Amino acid sequence: MLVKVFGSAVFGVEATTITVEVNIDKGVGYHLVGLPDNAIKESSYRIAAALKNNGYYLPGKKITINMAPADLRKEGSAYDLTLAVGILVASSQIKVEELDRYVIMGELSLDGGLQPIKGALSIAIKAKEEGFKGFILPIQNVKEAAIVEGLDVYGVENVLQVIDFFEGRGNLQPTIIDTQTEFSRTLEFPEFDFSDVKGQESIKRCMEIAAAGGHNIILIGPPGSGKTMLAKRLPSILPPMTMKEALETTKIHSVAGKTKEAGLMSQRPFRSPHHTASSVSLVGGGSYPQPGEISLAHNGVLFLDELPEFKREVLEVMRQPLEDREVTISRAKFTITYPSSFMLVASMNPSPGGYFNDPDAPVSSSPAEMQRYLSKISGPLLDRIDIHIEVNPVPFEKLTEKQKAESSVEIRKRVTHAREIQSQRFENLENLHYNAQMGSKHIREFCVLDDASLSLLKTAMERLNLSARAYDRILKVARTIADLEASEPIKPNHIAEAIQYRSLDREGWLG
Ligand SMILES: Nc1ncnc2c1ncn2[C@@H]1O[C@H](COP(=O)(O)OP(=O)(O)OP(=O)(O)O)[C@@H](O)[C@H]1O
Ligand SMILES: [Mg+2]
Repeated sequence: MLVKVFGSAVFGVEATTITVEVNIDKGVGYHLVGLPDNAIKESSYRIAAALKNNGYYLPGKKITINMAPADLRKEGSAYDLTLAVGILVASSQIKVEELDRYVIMGELSLDGGLQPIKGALSIAIKAKEEGFKGFILPIQNVKEAAIVEGLDVYGVENVLQVIDFFEGRGNLQPTIIDTQTEFSRTLEFPEFDFSDVKGQESIKRCMEIAAAGGHNIILIGPPGSGKTMLAKRLPSILPPMTMKEALETTKIHSVAGKTKEAGLMSQRPFRSPHHTASSVSLVGGGSYPQPGEISLAHNGVLFLDELPEFKREVLEVMRQPLEDREVTISRAKFTITYPSSFMLVASMNPSPGGYFNDPDAPVSSSPAEMQRYLSKISGPLLDRIDIHIEVNPVPFEKLTEKQKAESSVEIRKRVTHAREIQSQRFENLENLHYNAQMGSKHIREFCVLDDASLSLLKTAMERLNLSARAYDRILKVARTIADLEASEPIKPNHIAEAIQYRSLDREGWLG
């Protein structure tokens, strides 16, 4: 008998429905056609054991399985359940009506239990689009798939539950999540809040500016000064994610098999890869292509702690994605693209020894060591960082203060307001939403200085020996500072503040 079952393949972040035809005939053998990889070819062993251990069997006949479209490579073990159901029906062990109205996915253990799959959200979105009635998948992935409304999503623990469901036994119910309500509820409670950070008012101000204009930022300070603590709190002051952004980000995490309990991610992600990370883990790729850290940070923050410790070639591969806000992975037969629009926060010690050049520091570094250390970060990546700020440890009295600092929710209100001003300003310009994205043409149009500001900037550039690349960055950051005050003109005090945020351009750092 010939039956059709449906599965799905995920490329990049989009799914394609896969039609699986199972034909059982006289003879012997297990033949798989339609570009399956080895994991799928091995499925017969898992399916045989899983069925046997649950009172069913893999028929000793000629089983031919065709996966279509044939030109699309099918990978991984997530088709076990699709094939198993197809075989059960084709060998008349179970009788199923409406089999063609479901997408079925899951990897089988030998006892018939189910292992989680990747990309459940993308698959669910596609299934809904194509008019399927339901989606049957491992219970571990049910929450991310249930985000999709208008599709019956069934989380199952083992193959027996699936059989019972199709034969009308048991009591399997679709999972229903009120996504909208959960989405708005979690927004008010950031996991890490700026109110935990004592003192550091000037750094917080600086991070507020970075958040308001979407500016990449580097924090320079000795060990223990709170750099990591501050960076972790940046997502909490960025404007709340829109539903569209939340879906995009969740999709990527779903494809990487990294969705947490929650289902829909309503908070902006914070990713902090270790400096020993490889280029593949950072930007994505591999033989089964997977999104990297820069895509997991999509719509959120990528924190590169100890920036100079990262391998130069690893930082090099981040350049393009940082510019394009997406990353393209090319293989001989296909290319896939993952979104990667994130805010970069980097941190570094002021010297390889860890401390600012001050006589009381426990370790000091020679000028040559210093030069080598800083040269590692100069160039392409640093060119994309608008704000440099020095972080000093807070004095003991501050740390022990009882008084609570301003909460992230309060700071976020000002940030969101400044973002609204920017959205209006750039309303008619494609791909331009906030100040950090301005190119030199836009800077000349939107960052016009009066004479007083201009002469201030000129004097500062000469006196502090600021490089030419600092010029555009200062203008952009000054634009954001003005926006935070809802001031249309950029005034001298905005310029004066922006000039302070170019530590690494000054003489003695990168020269
Ligand atoms: N301003 C602060 N308010 C409250 N706690 C602070 C503050 N600064 C530092 N701390 C405390 O010190 C700890 C160390 O800070 P953190 O790890 O962020 O420092 P760091 O600059 O990242 O250091 P390293 O260079 O060693 O990574 C924090 O976990 C926090 O408990
Ligand atoms: Mg740290």
